[in-house]
Amino acid sequence: MILVGGQGTRLRPLTSTVPKPVVPLVDRPFISYMLEWLREHGIDDVIMSCGFLATSVRNVLGDGSGMGIRLRFIEEPDPRGTAGAVKLAEPMLDERFVMLNGDVLTDIDLTEQIAQHAATGARATLALVPVADPTAYGLVILEENRSVREFVEKPSSDSVESNLISAGAYVLERDVLDLVAPDRNVSIEREVWPLLVGDGLYGYPSDSYWLDIGTPARYLQGTFDIIEGNVETAVRERLGSDWLAVHESAEVFGRVIPPAVLERGVRVAEGAHVGSLAVLAEGVSVGAGTTVERSVILNGSEIGEGCQLRDCIVAAGCRVGARTKITGGAVLGEGVTIGADNVITRGARIFPGVTLPDGAIEF
Ligand code: GDD
Ligand code: MG
Repeated sequence: MILVGGQGTRLRPLTSTVPKPVVPLVDRPFISYMLEWLREHGIDDVIMSCGFLATSVRNVLGDGSGMGIRLRFIEEPDPRGTAGAVKLAEPMLDERFVMLNGDVLTDIDLTEQIAQHAATGARATLALVPVADPTAYGLVILEENRSVREFVEKPSSDSVESNLISAGAYVLERDVLDLVAPDRNVSIEREVWPLLVGDGLYGYPSDSYWLDIGTPARYLQGTFDIIEGNVETAVRERLGSDWLAVHESAEVFGRVIPPAVLERGVRVAEGAHVGSLAVLAEGVSVGAGTTVERSVILNGSEIGEGCQLRDCIVAAGCRVGARTKITGGAVLGEGVTIGADNVITRGARIFPGVTLPDGAIEF
């Protein structure tokens, strides 16, 4: 059971036109990483609980047969919260199942987590990872035997006594859903875990790769970690030993510095530098003398001559005029047109379809 009902507001404008689960990450829809990870651990029957833009998620992923997975979708009549969404799926679930927050990139050892769950006789086992600042997450304090002593969702900074947080990957016994009232909005973190403390709630600490990709900065971090091989994914194989995946149809006259991914029909003009840490999706063109570093440019976008793109995300179908600089975590939404000689930086987010004339902005 994967929860993908959130609106992905913190990832706008990328999620203004594309639902978060199918926002492209390196070379595939984000949620594909999760499906591939599940399959690696023998899980091939998946229910996705959708809210926002459910039909477009289904259109991109289909029935999962392409990935060797049975994929079913549930649409909530209204947002039911993290427990209410699972309650709605109760009749479709096995006695023991895995539940996942749909916004994390990880290679946690689910097989071992499931084995620990069975060995302890737990009712719920939460995967746990250490983070520097637990205040944005669900904080967990464990006993010696890995039972949970305390669970605090979004703790205030003065109550943080551990750096272990819930990674959003759970093994559950279906009877836990007896604690959830039907047809209501219920939060599993705030209303269910507290009831299970001392009554079958366990933690499975892991030191695997883990990232919640919910913001542009983390989206870029996730991209870099995938193409640097810090997280185990199928993309690693595509990159090979030279850490480059350049499609045979790409025309490269400039220089490409690994790790980098250049897809079908990409064109890099003379004197341009692409990489390190760059992803150019299908049909992207990069003008002469332009630098693209630590950045992602999505399908069909055209970058002019003499531009500098660093630490930025450019969604599909954008046009960027000559000598424009896009840096500092800026994000261009789909179909944005930026004229020549602009400077876009400091986390600026430009919404889909916006047009800026030449020399309009300097920050
Ligand atoms: N179907 C459905 N319906 N899905 C939902 C709903 C809903 O009403 N509300 C949230 N979700 C989905 C989101 O799309 C996301 O994939 C997941 O549930 C978790 O919601 P977030 O809004 O991303 O929560 P969070 O990141 O603040 O906190 C959660 O994740 C942390 C780890 O990233 C909590 O589970 C924390 O305890 C945890 O540490
Ligand atoms: Mg989240």
